[in-house]
Amino acid sequence: MSSEQPAFDADGVLPLSGLELLTTTRAVRKRLDLTRPVSDDVLRECVRIALQAPAPSNQISVRFVVVTDPEVRRKLGELYQAGYGVYRQLDGIYIGSIAKGDETEQAQQERTTVSADHLAEIMPEVPAIVVGCVMGRSEDLGAWVTASVLGGAMPALWSFMLAARLHGLGTCWTSVHLQQEQAVAELLGIPFDAVTQVMLTPVAHYTGETFKPVDRPDPDTVIHWNRWQD
Ligand SMILES: Cc1cc2nc3c(=O)[nH]c(=O)nc-3n(C[C@H](O)[C@H](O)[C@H](O)COP(=O)(O)O)c2cc1C
Repeated sequence: MSSEQPAFDADGVLPLSGLELLTTTRAVRKRLDLTRPVSDDVLRECVRIALQAPAPSNQISVRFVVVTDPEVRRKLGELYQAGYGVYRQLDGIYIGSIAKGDETEQAQQERTTVSADHLAEIMPEVPAIVVGCVMGRSEDLGAWVTASVLGGAMPALWSFMLAARLHGLGTCWTSVHLQQEQAVAELLGIPFDAVTQVMLTPVAHYTGETFKPVDRPDPDTVIHWNRWQD
């Protein structure tokens, strides 16, 4: 796979193969370009593409709160920072406190920790922040309802991130702001009782060229053929 960025086509889309798109859509944090605004039209196009994703009972329940106003972004970024501060104290959960088995994996974990810490620092300055939401709440309603409610948003939100990658934008699925879900709801006018926030992603043009696939576990370590086996 070439390390050079291919040229955008006439519609501003990178001509990536399906395989390249799926293996190079990374969590972008250190390479977010804070100096370049993101066009509303491109964000809208990414949402249009994302709405092709599956939806339970064919009902579109995903919602995108797209924050580009500098003052609101700053406040939202500060709420993210507050959540990240709590997360950093959680031994065994904070990415920097999880020891990996071998040297290569440990080095990758440490790089990701530096990158995640960095994102928390810069979040208030990111040109666009998208809060992915779903209509409904599912607390205490059991696995089927919870999976169906959240499943109304997850495929579309990941498709949004893939579409952003195709348009030369970096994103990073994050969740630590959810510790402050109510405060974020108040800031953004999201009706907390009727709408669940699922994730938050920075959106920005990225610096540098392209992205590479990373090491992941062997498929056989996560597949259970025919029935679950330890
Ligand atoms: C459910 C979920 C929650 C996540 N929460 C955060 C987060 O709060 N902050 C953050 O910087 N990254 C967060 N991440 C991003 C992961 O750290 C990232 O996907 C992982 O490091 C792999 O990155 P890579 O695909 O670039 O290798 C989250 C990812 C998922 C799927």
